[in-house]
Amino acid sequence: MQLDALKALAAADRRIVDLFAKDATRAGSFSASTGDLLFDYSKTQIDEDVRAALLQLCEDAGLATRRDAMFAGKKINETEGRAVLHTALRNLDGGPVDVDGQDVMPGVLDTLHRMRVFAEEVRGGAIAGAGGSFTDVVNIGIGGSDLGPVMATHALATYHDGPRVHYVSNVDGAHIADTLRPLDPARTLVIVASKTFTTIETMTNARTARAWMSEGGGDPSRQFAAVSSALDKTQAFGIPEAHVFGFADWVGGRYSVWGPVGLPVMIAVGSNAFDAFLRGGQAMDLHFRSADWVENMPVMLALVGIWHRQVLGCTSRAVLPYDQRLLRLPAYLQQLEMESNGKSVAMDGSSLAVPSGPVVWGEPGTNGQHAFYQLIHQGTDVIPCEFMVAAEGHEPELTHHHRLLLANCLAQSEALMRGRSLGEARELMAEKGLDGDELDRQARHRVFPGNRPSTTLIYPKLTPFVLGQIIALYEHRVFVEGVLLGINSFDQWGVELGKELANSLGPVVDGVASADGKDGSTAALVAYALKHRN
Ligand code: F6P
Repeated sequence: MQLDALKALAAADRRIVDLFAKDATRAGSFSASTGDLLFDYSKTQIDEDVRAALLQLCEDAGLATRRDAMFAGKKINETEGRAVLHTALRNLDGGPVDVDGQDVMPGVLDTLHRMRVFAEEVRGGAIAGAGGSFTDVVNIGIGGSDLGPVMATHALATYHDGPRVHYVSNVDGAHIADTLRPLDPARTLVIVASKTFTTIETMTNARTARAWMSEGGGDPSRQFAAVSSALDKTQAFGIPEAHVFGFADWVGGRYSVWGPVGLPVMIAVGSNAFDAFLRGGQAMDLHFRSADWVENMPVMLALVGIWHRQVLGCTSRAVLPYDQRLLRLPAYLQQLEMESNGKSVAMDGSSLAVPSGPVVWGEPGTNGQHAFYQLIHQGTDVIPCEFMVAAEGHEPELTHHHRLLLANCLAQSEALMRGRSLGEARELMAEKGLDGDELDRQARHRVFPGNRPSTTLIYPKLTPFVLGQIIALYEHRVFVEGVLLGINSFDQWGVELGKELANSLGPVVDGVASADGKDGSTAALVAYALKHRN
C-alpha cells in the first residue's frame, strides 16, 4: 500500500471546522447513501485531495478484481484453500454461484427451506419436547457460532414472538448453570452450533446440557439440533439427521449468521423477518458490487478506517451505537474486524509493511458518555468514533426518549469536532466570577482540543432489513480494508496456539500431569490453583 502521498497530505494542519467553513455543503459530498442508509464522514479531516489519494489505493490494490473474485466463488482464502461465499447465503433470487464448477445455490436454498420449516414448526409447536411445545431455546456455540445470532436476537427484540432464546458460549460452568437453572428440561430445545463440532468450549457445554436434559425428564434424541459443517460428528453426538443443518467450508465462522448459524434468530423472529434480514444483506451486496467507489458505502467506510489507522496512526476505533438493541454489535464487530484483519503477515507470506487493523471497541450511547467519553474528548490519544443512530425508535409512546437519544448522538460528534478553546473556557470561568490564576487554572481543565474525527451512520429504524444492510456493510468494509492491507481476512491462525496449549494444560490443572517443562509463572499459578481448591 503506497501511503506516501497520504502521509504528506496528513502533515498539513487540517481542522474539520475549517473544512466546513470553506464548504458548508460538505456533508453532501462527504457522505454515501444506499437505499435508506446514510453514512456521513464529513466530520473527519478528509478533503478532496485526501479522498482522491485514498481512492487511488483501491485502484492500486485491484479492489474490483478481488471483489469480483470473492462473489464468483474463487478461492481467495488462500491459506485455507477456500472460497469466501457468505454472500451466497443471502443471494435469495440471484443467479448461480459456482465453486469448483458446481452451483452452490440449490444447496443453499434447500438448507434455507429446511431451516424455515423447522423454525416454524418449533414456533408453532409441531416440533416439541417431551413436556410439550418449546418455551425456550438454548444456543450453544462460541465466536462466530454465537456472536452473530446473539447480536441479531438483541437487535430484533421488537420482532421476537417465538420462544425465549438464550445463548451459552463460555466454558465457565457459571454460564451454562445460570442459563439452564430456570428452564424446563422437557420444554427446551438445545441447538449446538459449531462449524467444526470440535470446539472444546462448545462440546463441553453440549455434553453438560445433554446430561441436564436427560436427568430432568427431557429427551435429547428429539430436543437437540445441530448447526455444523462436520456432519459425521453431529451424527456421532446422536443428533437426528432431520435436526442437523449443514453449511460448507466457504462460510467463515464470523460471517455465518446468514445461514444455519442464524437458526435461533429465525426461531425467535420467524422466517419472514429473517428473510427481510437476508434481503437487507443482499441489497448491500448489490450496492457494493455496482456503486462507484466514491459512492460505495463499504468502500468509503473502509477508506475512512485506512485514513485513521494507516495514515494518522490511530490504534483503535470506537463503535458507538445510539441504539440499545445494538448493545452486542461492538462485540460482534470485534470478532469480525479483529479476527479478520488482526494479522502481521501479508497474503504472500511476507511481513506486513504497515500496521494491522485497529482495536475495535465500544458500548451503546448514551451509557458510554457517562463512562469513557472523557478520554475520547480530552485524552491524549485520538480515537475515531463511529456513531450509529436511527431516525426513529420502536416505541411510539416514548418518542421523547428517542429525540433525546438522537440529540445526544449528534451533540457528541459536534463536540468532538468543535472542541472548546482556551479563550472560550476563560470566558466561561469569568462568567462564573473567577479571575486571575484561579481563572486560568480552572479554564485549562475545561479546554477540549476538538478536531476529533467521527462518522455517523443513520438509518430510518432498526428493522430486520436495515440490520441486514448494516452487518453486510461492515463485512464488506473488513474485506476492503483487508484487500488494501494485502492480507487474508478469512483465516484466523492466531487463535490456534492458545487452543493447543489449553489442551496440553488440561491434565496439568486436573492434577494428573506435572507442570514440569512449563515456565515458572504458569507452574506457580497451577500450584496455587491446586492448593486452593477442594
Ligand atoms: O476461535 C476461533 C474460531 O475458530 C472462530 O473463528 C470461530 O467462530 C469459533 O472459533 C468457533 O468455531 P466453531 O464454530 O467451529 O465451534
